[in-house]
Amino acid sequence: MKQEIYLDNAATTKPTKAVVQEMVQCLEHIYGNPSSVHRLGVEAERVVTRAREAVAGILKANPKEVIFTSGGSESNNLAIKGAAYALAKRGKHIITSEIEHSAVYSLCQDLEEDGFEVTVLPVDKEGIVQTNDLKAALREDTILVTIMYVNNETGAIQPIEEIGKVIDAAKEANKIPLWHVDAVQALGKIPLYPAKMGINMLSLSAHKAHGPKGIGALYISKGTPLHPQISGGGQEMGLRSGTENVPAIAGFRAAVSDFKEMQQDAKHMAKLRQMLVEGILKNIPDTRLNGLPPGNEQAAPHIANISFTGVRGEVLLHSLEGEGIFTSTGSACSSRKAVEHRVLNAMGLSNEEMEGAIRFSFNAQNSEEEVVIVIEKLKEIVKELRSFA
Ligand SMILES: Cc1ncc(COP(=O)(O)O)c(C=O)c1O
Repeated sequence: MKQEIYLDNAATTKPTKAVVQEMVQCLEHIYGNPSSVHRLGVEAERVVTRAREAVAGILKANPKEVIFTSGGSESNNLAIKGAAYALAKRGKHIITSEIEHSAVYSLCQDLEEDGFEVTVLPVDKEGIVQTNDLKAALREDTILVTIMYVNNETGAIQPIEEIGKVIDAAKEANKIPLWHVDAVQALGKIPLYPAKMGINMLSLSAHKAHGPKGIGALYISKGTPLHPQISGGGQEMGLRSGTENVPAIAGFRAAVSDFKEMQQDAKHMAKLRQMLVEGILKNIPDTRLNGLPPGNEQAAPHIANISFTGVRGEVLLHSLEGEGIFTSTGSACSSRKAVEHRVLNAMGLSNEEMEGAIRFSFNAQNSEEEVVIVIEKLKEIVKELRSFA
């Protein structure tokens, strides 16, 4: 069988066996509607309740503060639009950053067309938002700050604790901003305690952490004003109508039940990242790491973005694919569109560096042997591609 080295885990991960089994069991046997009052409905409702408790458990939150959505994009939309319209009478200013996922970035652009004013914070050359910029941007009419936890293209972990302190200070000075965090790339890699940090809303997606696609959650702290974005039967505490996706919710629970080994897994992935980054930078000339170096505590363990100057990222991606190695040129949603490098551009990369960028992203099942193979193949392929240039 041809080798398959999957290094595109920031795009999506493979569901575990336990997740698949849980979903199949649910599809076969627990087919009632959780809103139905008969036994089959009650059984389905029990599955949803158990999953809500499990997701709340990993966040150290109250289950009443967790609602299920169709994924990270919907959670971001509900949080941002929901808060913007709930608070529009008090202010219309929103703060976000240049490196947000398009589910946040484009949504903020849409809101601008709808009369909201958006300040987009820059990042430094390593892709980190500066808290001083946030401090300077906060105003009396700022109703929402939305800044991600881990960037999906570079793995840069944002200074969430310090951001929280700035927002707390603003609240003490009678400002009113709600705080939303897109934690989609942090799930299963970094412990997330939104209540402890004073976060009002936090978005999650199951498929980035070995759960199924099309299911996510939004943590909403008690008392956070939010306008629902889908009207209907009033499911999910009135905030997200629509019959719950019970099999996917069951799969999400199975995925989060595996987080017991999170620390060990993160250590293993960080080791692989270090091997890959050092192996490439040492052995292949004209390469650069876009983001923080191994060992830096603001570098997520699972993502490494590297530029191979003079090589087109897309061509390199397909050459690697020919060897059974799966990577990405950027975020999954934009990598099929004309290549757009908003995040790398914000970090100040040259056009050539952006065009030659490849994202490698790990899961805990990747091995050191795989990394050795990838480095060897890269050495050959990059040399060959450069010889054509
Ligand atoms: C940081 C971030 N936010 C949001 C999303 C969207 O999540 P979903 O695919 O579940 O809609 C992604 C997925 O690429 C992501 O990486």
